[in-house]
Parts: sequence; C-alpha cells; structure tokens
Amino acid sequence: MPFIEVKDIVKMYHDPKRGKNLLALDHVDLTVEKNEFLCLLGPSGCGKSTLLNMIAGFEKQTSGTILMNDKEVTGPGADRGMVFQQPTLMPWLPVWENVSFHLKLKGVGKKERREKAQEFIDMVGLKGFENHYPYELSGGMNQRVGIARALLLNPSVILMDEPFAALDAQTKMDMQEELVRIWQFHKVTVIFVTHSVEEALILGTKVAVMTHRPGKIRELLSIHLPRPRDVTSHLFNEYKRDILGYIREESKLAKAT
Ligand SMILES: Nc1ncnc2c1ncn2[C@@H]1O[C@H](COP(=O)(O)OP(=O)(O)OP(=O)(O)O)[C@@H](O)[C@H]1O
Ligand SMILES: [Mg+2]
Repeated sequence: MPFIEVKDIVKMYHDPKRGKNLLALDHVDLTVEKNEFLCLLGPSGCGKSTLLNMIAGFEKQTSGTILMNDKEVTGPGADRGMVFQQPTLMPWLPVWENVSFHLKLKGVGKKERREKAQEFIDMVGLKGFENHYPYELSGGMNQRVGIARALLLNPSVILMDEPFAALDAQTKMDMQEELVRIWQFHKVTVIFVTHSVEEALILGTKVAVMTHRPGKIRELLSIHLPRPRDVTSHLFNEYKRDILGYIREESKLAKAT
C-alpha cells in the first residue's frame, strides 16, 4: 500500500469575476512511498502548488481522491508540514514565536516552546535572529523561518513549495544538504516542488515531471544516483538531459495551444 495516493484528481477553478472556469489539474495520478523524496517539476502555472495544497488539505479537489495511510485527506493535519511558496509568517511575532506557534496552540509553556524553537532555528542557520521580527529579515531568512516551523511539527510528510527559490547560491546548497540530512535522519517523506532540474536531481529519489496546464504527471523517474549527488557526473547529466528534453517539449506544446 503506497503512503500517499493521488487518484484521478481534477481541479477546476471558478472565476465568477470573468465568468470563466479554469482547468488547473486534469486527472492526476501519483503515488508516493514512505521515506521517498519526490521532486515535482513542471512549467509555471501547470498546477504544482495546487496539487501540493490539496495534499496538505488546504484546497479541495473538484473530483478524485487523495489518500494518506489509506485514509482520505479531508483537511489539514499535523502529520503534514507545509512550507509555502511565499513565507506566511505572523508579522507581530518574533522568529522564535513564529517557529513554535503550533506548540502554543497546543498549550505548551513558554520555556519549552523557546527551547524547542531554538533547536530548529539553529538547524536552519538563524541563530542570533530569534528575537527579530519578520520585517527585519530578508526574504530568504523568512523562508527559513517557515521551514523551521514546518520541521518543528515533526510531520511524517514535509510538503515544500519552491522553498529555496529566494536563497543565494551558497545558502541554497547548505539548505539542500541540511534537508537531505533531515530526511535521512528523521525518515520523513518529502514532496518538493521546484523549477530547477538540477535541484530535483540533487535531492530526489524520484522526479515527477508535469505537463503544461492543465497539469498531469508526464514522467515519473526513479533517480539512481549515489549521495552526496555529484552534479558533474556523467549519469547526473544524462538524467538532466532527459528531463530538460521533456520540459522543452512541454514548453513547445504550451506555446502551440
Ligand atoms: N485560487 C485560485 N483561483 C483561481 N485560479 C487559480 C487559483 N490558484 C491557482 N489558479 C490557477 O491555476 C493554475 C495553476 O496554478 P498553480 O499556482 O498551481 O501553478 P504552479 O505550477 O504552482 O505555478 P508556479 O510554478 O508559477 O508557482 C494557474 O493557471 C492559476 O492561474
Ligand atoms: Mg506554484
């Protein structure tokens, strides 16, 4: 039994303002095994965020089902930690309170929340910024607060929507390494949306390539590369060439429609 099953998902957005409907996802099927690191690649607007939001339970599909551990996903849950494309922090709370906000909701005391938050603040490289407010941080630092907040929940699935897109090259590399370490150590399952073929190949055990909108899964590849991934290796670049080929085809098809 797969850990997560996305079965025949269709998502139609209604646009009452323009009196039109928009088909975002068109019969998507996808299975994710436990401990898998699945990277989801696809052109802008193909429905990656929509799909991730549905697995998170924030968005409702028009038809189809999503199962996790054989139970239907009907709403958000602490078993799924989400890192959004845009960090969604509470501007009136300092970093450590943003990171440990879920614990506050559970009634955990301040001292314990502060300690727990520190562990994850250190993990994402924000030591020294515990008492800063979101407006005092850069975009990339805010994104790291969002990552720390998701990890603190100790979820069995981490859903990440282009979490490193706003980071500089060095921080991005550090965060990618850290995420692989967390994934290996905590045995979590990760679904990671990215635009970067290279990033997908640095991280993933599998890479799903989506079609242009309305999105479907076009290819699902198992990535058999040793870790740490060597971006200069022959095999890495063979995978890269194949995937870029699919993406180019999709972009041509998108322009033709
Ligand atoms: N809340 C919404 N209401 C109406 N249309 C929406 C909504 N959210 C997304 N869409 C539409 O659905 C399609 C898919 O959007 P989505 O954000 O899932 O794409 P994406 O693959 O994540 O793109 P990107 O790579 O640019 O983030 C787009 O055409 C978008 O305009
Ligand atoms: Mg998106």
